[in-house]
Amino acid sequence: MKHSKMLAPIAMLGVFALALTACSSSSTTTSGSGTGPTASGLASRGPITYVQGKDNSNVVRPLIAKWNAAHPTETVTFKEQTDNANQQHDDLVQNLQAKNPNYDVMSVDVIWTAEFAAKGWLQPLTGKMAVNTTAMLPATVKTATYNGVMYAAPVTSDGGILYYRKDLVPNPPKTWAEMMSMCSIAKAKNIGCYAGQFAQYEGLTVNTAEAINSEGGTIVDASGKPTVTTPQATKGLQNLVTAYANGNIPKEAVTFQEEQGRTAFEAGKLLFLRNWPYVYNLAKTDASSTVKDTFGIAALPGATGPGASSLGGHNAAISVYSKNKATAHDFLQFLTSPETEKFWATQGSLAPVLSALYADPTLVAKLPYLPVLKTSIDNAVPRPVTPFYPAVTKAIQDNAYAAIKGDVPVATALSNMQKAIQAAGGQ
Ligand code: GLC
Repeated sequence: MKHSKMLAPIAMLGVFALALTACSSSSTTTSGSGTGPTASGLASRGPITYVQGKDNSNVVRPLIAKWNAAHPTETVTFKEQTDNANQQHDDLVQNLQAKNPNYDVMSVDVIWTAEFAAKGWLQPLTGKMAVNTTAMLPATVKTATYNGVMYAAPVTSDGGILYYRKDLVPNPPKTWAEMMSMCSIAKAKNIGCYAGQFAQYEGLTVNTAEAINSEGGTIVDASGKPTVTTPQATKGLQNLVTAYANGNIPKEAVTFQEEQGRTAFEAGKLLFLRNWPYVYNLAKTDASSTVKDTFGIAALPGATGPGASSLGGHNAAISVYSKNKATAHDFLQFLTSPETEKFWATQGSLAPVLSALYADPTLVAKLPYLPVLKTSIDNAVPRPVTPFYPAVTKAIQDNAYAAIKGDVPVATALSNMQKAIQAAGGQ
């Protein structure tokens, strides 16, 4: 097969999905009908568990309390995971492999849909399980769809934004070069200039993809073939490598996930921070935040204008092993209702999936970051869509990390990345 060494292009994913499903178990089926686990528990009601990563913004518990008060015989228990995206993934995989019936509703990162659906772990949201997506941002619906079937309900979207100290930089930089030139301001103040998520985990894949996309490069092309050795991709990674080598990205930033960067920014130790919208609310309201009134929000800087964010976000999926899928389905609808979406936005500055909320005058008045966020999400670039995503992201993280730390030249790191992404494509 001509493309056999390439990463599965979107159109070919069905072939790999079928192959994987066929290997995994004869009882799993990706259609809503049949006799496998997708057909059981559809009408059953009772207590369920909701599994999600750390509730940094403290918006999950109050919602669940509200649900539980209204559903005394169908209560939801919150199982909170850590705040590390890789650990969240591995916890879900272990429990799904073990067919744990207690992981009823799971918060699934947008990049895991293909993998989990191909393994036959997610209840297709078809027939009685369908959710109405007409009011949702199309990009978010796409992240919950695999081979034309919905496997999860979009709950929160995510787009990268630039947090900056408006007391020190009245006009935020529009380009990467401009931002780097402003690092002298940070130096004079004895604070770090720029940080994102540069620890070796999913966040580094996000940041690497953004650096590459912002220079006009791509991780894979439309046919799924890796494209990380192009001049544009090279320039993108080189930007991070140079900034780390010259100190514009502080040394400790290679240990930063989202939370470490947020804490440093709130402590006044950074001029610029790339992070997700959830930081806005915490930086404004945390008692310990020293930047409450002195930070602003701008689009990520790019080559000649705004850069390109990676598309993030989380969808709620029902495990095929859940015993109470009717309750799980109602809970999914509760999570995506306009009331809940408004609550996520106003209390946690999370990005809604309902497009109308971005133009809701009362919301926009309260949340001035909404227009910047909408632009970020509208222009966001999805990470590669493939059931083999764990190997693809590892190829990106490992090689980007080695290059940023200065252990491997950029060209070598990208050539290794290219080969590893290719190998992940099903050989
Ligand atoms: C955020 C994003 C998610 C991404 C993760 C990386 O949670 O919503 O899509 O994978 O950060 O750390």
